[in-house]
Amino acid sequence: MSDSAKPQTRYLKDYAPPPYAVSAIQLRFELFEESARVTSTLEMQRQHRQDEAGQTPLMLDGHDMTLHSVTLDGQKLDTDAYIVEPERLVIANPPERFTLEIVTSSKPQDNASLEGLYRSGDMFCTQCEAEGFRKITYYPDRPDVMAPYTVTIEADKARYPTLLSNGNRIDGGDLPDGRRFAVWQDPFPKPSYLFALVAGNLGCLRDAFITQSGRRVALELYAREQDVAQCHHAMAALKKSMRWDEERFGREYDLDVYMIVAVGDFNMGAMENKGLNIFNTKYVLANPDTATDSEYEGIDSVIAHEYFHNWSGNRVTCRDWFQLSLKEGLTVFRDQEFSSDIVSGPVQRINDVRVLRSHQFPEDAGPTAHPVQPDSYIEINNFYTNTVYNKGAEVVRMLQTLLGRDGFRKGLDLYFERHDGQAVTVEEFISAMEAANGRALTQFRLWYVQAGTPQVRAALSHDAASQRLTLTLRQSCPATPGQSFKQPFHIPIATALLDQQGQAIPLRLVGESNAAPAPTERVLELRATEESFHFDGVAQMPTPSLLRGFSAPVKLDAQLDNAQLAFLWAHDSDPFNRWESGQEYATRVMLGLVAARARGDSLNLDENFVDAFRACLQDDALDPALRALALTLPSEGHLMERMTLADPQAAHAIRSFVRAQLSVRLEAELLTAYHAFRVAGAYRYAPLDAGRRALRNLCLDLLLAGQDSAAETLALNHYHNADNMTDRLAAITPIIHGGLPHSDKLIADFYIHCASSANALDKWFSIQASAPLPDALPRVRALMTHQDFSLRNPNKVRAVIGAFCGGNPVRFHDASGAGYAFLAEQVLALDAANPQAAARMVALMSRWRRFRRDLAELMQKQLQRILTQDKLSNDVYEIVSKSLN
Ligand code: PHE
Ligand code: ZN
Repeated sequence: MSDSAKPQTRYLKDYAPPPYAVSAIQLRFELFEESARVTSTLEMQRQHRQDEAGQTPLMLDGHDMTLHSVTLDGQKLDTDAYIVEPERLVIANPPERFTLEIVTSSKPQDNASLEGLYRSGDMFCTQCEAEGFRKITYYPDRPDVMAPYTVTIEADKARYPTLLSNGNRIDGGDLPDGRRFAVWQDPFPKPSYLFALVAGNLGCLRDAFITQSGRRVALELYAREQDVAQCHHAMAALKKSMRWDEERFGREYDLDVYMIVAVGDFNMGAMENKGLNIFNTKYVLANPDTATDSEYEGIDSVIAHEYFHNWSGNRVTCRDWFQLSLKEGLTVFRDQEFSSDIVSGPVQRINDVRVLRSHQFPEDAGPTAHPVQPDSYIEINNFYTNTVYNKGAEVVRMLQTLLGRDGFRKGLDLYFERHDGQAVTVEEFISAMEAANGRALTQFRLWYVQAGTPQVRAALSHDAASQRLTLTLRQSCPATPGQSFKQPFHIPIATALLDQQGQAIPLRLVGESNAAPAPTERVLELRATEESFHFDGVAQMPTPSLLRGFSAPVKLDAQLDNAQLAFLWAHDSDPFNRWESGQEYATRVMLGLVAARARGDSLNLDENFVDAFRACLQDDALDPALRALALTLPSEGHLMERMTLADPQAAHAIRSFVRAQLSVRLEAELLTAYHAFRVAGAYRYAPLDAGRRALRNLCLDLLLAGQDSAAETLALNHYHNADNMTDRLAAITPIIHGGLPHSDKLIADFYIHCASSANALDKWFSIQASAPLPDALPRVRALMTHQDFSLRNPNKVRAVIGAFCGGNPVRFHDASGAGYAFLAEQVLALDAANPQAAARMVALMSRWRRFRRDLAELMQKQLQRILTQDKLSNDVYEIVSKSLN
């Protein structure tokens, strides 16, 4: 890319308030097959004088449209009265108050970016966050410009009987020429990114919800007619979410109707447009034949997430996109709390931490690392990251841990009360927490502005004579791009000390009175680089159980040996730490084997580990869902993170070896558990049943890791007896991934089960693309020529390209470099149509420096090749250039 074409960086420090406000906007959409015409009428007022000449130019964002006319206060402007630039429309010096009418048109059918107004199948839909509205009309497309919207939609009556936008429908009817119109009004002023429109021929599932104050809200879930039967789970999730937000946070819904539309072509999970959420079908549609247990859970959490945005995001929104985590971190925290209440607290916590560790920690340690509140970006679409979302949620969770549930609730109430109807910053959120709790959070703010995952090292020393125990905690944080030195963080460390029976002992800090019984768990607050905490009355050296429930997003080194880890795996009263200890134990054993393999030693799986694994498998006091998690070996990705230089082949070889060993050495126990955890009756999604299925299917998977034919027969029966997607997938995955004899036949049979559902087909694709077999890449290429594949559909791209490049490390990182060349080729093909999707894919190579030298060089070459292309999107340019820096 030439220097002059290089995209610009935007900085938080350059923020300036908008020079013009919009007090009302009216939009009229005339939808046709070849084009869409948009008439926008804006009531605008100047906010202040800006430049030295005393002029305040009006600059409206916009691109990829045809401009037909600009009319100011009823006067059509000559083309020399305004300037049309590639990305904006400028009117030099408009009056203080004026009405501006702008007519534009675009071609939704050609819009493959899935941003702005586009077509998905037979319908029209929109996606405006973050900056898609500027592809619909010229507008101050920034979240601190809020206005009430009135929207008229006109379209062919037969093709598009359903015409939707935000708010309440206030008018509608027939027009000449077989056309029809509807008028929608949203009384709540909103930023443009929350605007939405849908036109189509859609079926609808209807229900209602009575709010805590007794108002009736109509609930409408729209999908293609043939998919409406798959919307019931989502509807139930919506009602649960609405009730939960009232009960837990006192938040009530505010419009008379809440609509959700399922769309097949969508870049993200879903979008919280005011009163009119638009969802990826993956997070709405489910029936037992198409969706797995974890997809049912995913629907619950995404429905809740978008619903919760109505307060954390819509009623109180972001001033600018650097504040994205203000709505996303808070809303993820809220949806995690919701899921934790409806599934199981510990299971949810473990899953959330797994996501954080497998995606956010690597991001925080790589070339695109950024703070929860970034201070610069080239393309905002690249900042819908695990850091902004998931680490952001952890930061909010720490606030709840430090302030207590009640204190946090008070702070949140005050935040909503103070800022309802405003566009604010992270600072307002923290200030409200401080004010409501009478507590300064000065040092805590560093979590928002410093990137990188802090490391905490713990050391215990015990003095038998004085019965005193000293816990010393030391923190550090590695450098990240642009931030070489870090100040110490304020880190809550939930702590318990366990005696030899695994009982948590009372924790009395030195100097505390012993009048009241001491708690057995305390949240220690680490603020300095190093701090020591002294406890009295500790008779013997205990085993520490630190960072319980993962009380802070840090890497902890508690300096435990394998015997202590095995003890905690079996006895810790904190379920999270039980899981954690097992994972850490397994990781160490596996890394030991990686080292042995590198030395050419023969491999031998430690008997103590096998015993501990067996004990966990047979511990009937442990809930099956938790047991399944506790018995899931750390992923290849996790092992690679812990190697000095990641070696995908070694990680794969060792993980396969350990699975095969467990399979052979625990065959009888696994078989017993497999039979014991059968779920009686027809399939229904329920958390307890799902836990049993997870444990049973884990046993099945391990049994097949031994590659014997009896196990394959067991899996075949499992498959043929299954009445649901969870079990079918569990049965065929080890067969297909192991390349067992029945593999091809099952692929063909499974296709028949999937053929009628796009979401089910995604699984048919991804199970093949992620199979770690030698011919993986040619298979992937063949899948891409399949009639059901389309490079224009993001779910399919994820299911094939994403599953191969992100979920098949041993084949993607093939030493020939063919996997990397493939990815580069797909990124370039995608970039021309859908830059967001392309950027997400290319990010899979961003941490090339972490890999074995030979692999790193091959990845670097492909990244360089991408960077030399002429027409690169900002999205891909930013990721690739930062990766090569
Ligand atoms: N705001 C959406 C959410 O998290 C995500 C999203 C971002 C969707 C950008 C589309 C485009 O709920
Ligand atoms: Zn969100």
